[in-house]
Amino acid sequence: MLTAYDYPSARVVDSGGVDVILVGDSLGMVVLGYDNTLSVTMEDMLHHTKAVVRGSQKAMVVFDMPFLSYHVNREEALRNAGRAIQEAGAQAVKLEGGQEVAPVVETIVKAGIPVMGHIGLTPQSIHQLGGFKVQGKDESTARKMIDDARALEQAGAFSIVLETVPWQLARIITGKATVPTIGIGAGLHCDGQVLVTHDLLGIFDRFAPKFVRRYANLYLEMVSAVERYVAEVGNSEFPAPEHTFSMKEELLEKLK
Ligand code: KIV
Repeated sequence: MLTAYDYPSARVVDSGGVDVILVGDSLGMVVLGYDNTLSVTMEDMLHHTKAVVRGSQKAMVVFDMPFLSYHVNREEALRNAGRAIQEAGAQAVKLEGGQEVAPVVETIVKAGIPVMGHIGLTPQSIHQLGGFKVQGKDESTARKMIDDARALEQAGAFSIVLETVPWQLARIITGKATVPTIGIGAGLHCDGQVLVTHDLLGIFDRFAPKFVRRYANLYLEMVSAVERYVAEVGNSEFPAPEHTFSMKEELLEKLK
């Protein structure tokens, strides 16, 4: 699984062969320039998901439910999940949390909407967690995470993202789970992996978490392309004859 936020990024990851495209609320950070994901709204997510759906041909598109879109009550959560499917064209939704969101997961699943869970480092709870830190490092939080995974599975989640957890704990959860786990900063033993595409491609240059492998450095390549354009416009190397249109000489004479 990889993230996409618009038509071109969806085409790239779909053509590259991922099974699942996540329209992550990470769009708040890597596309909209916020410091965290908390400012992302339903309207932002719907707008971007529509473009991703237009750009994807094969992969399943998962809509990341933004902060407060599933917390107020089950009815509102179901209505918002329904908008993701009906208005934006996604095939599933993802939401953050464990036992506390299990009743919401159950309600959405009962309406026929597939739900992906997300536990470990859940960025929408960043203020409660005290920062972007590894989760489940002591016995009680590790046990709670195992129980959270079980609760999500029992509520009907079809897969569970494990974010920033020790690989050994991710392996235990994956071994116990009957639905696939998808790891991000959770080691090799998850059933699948996910990264933020803008991190993997090096488009987002501000920082990269430890678990990111950069497969390209597109930010630098794009800056260098723009620098070349600016220089070539400045010294009249661009546009060249092949980029221009011309008129017939006799018509030109009449215009003079
Ligand atoms: O928003 C996002 O991109 C995510 C992934 C990091 C799993 O939730």
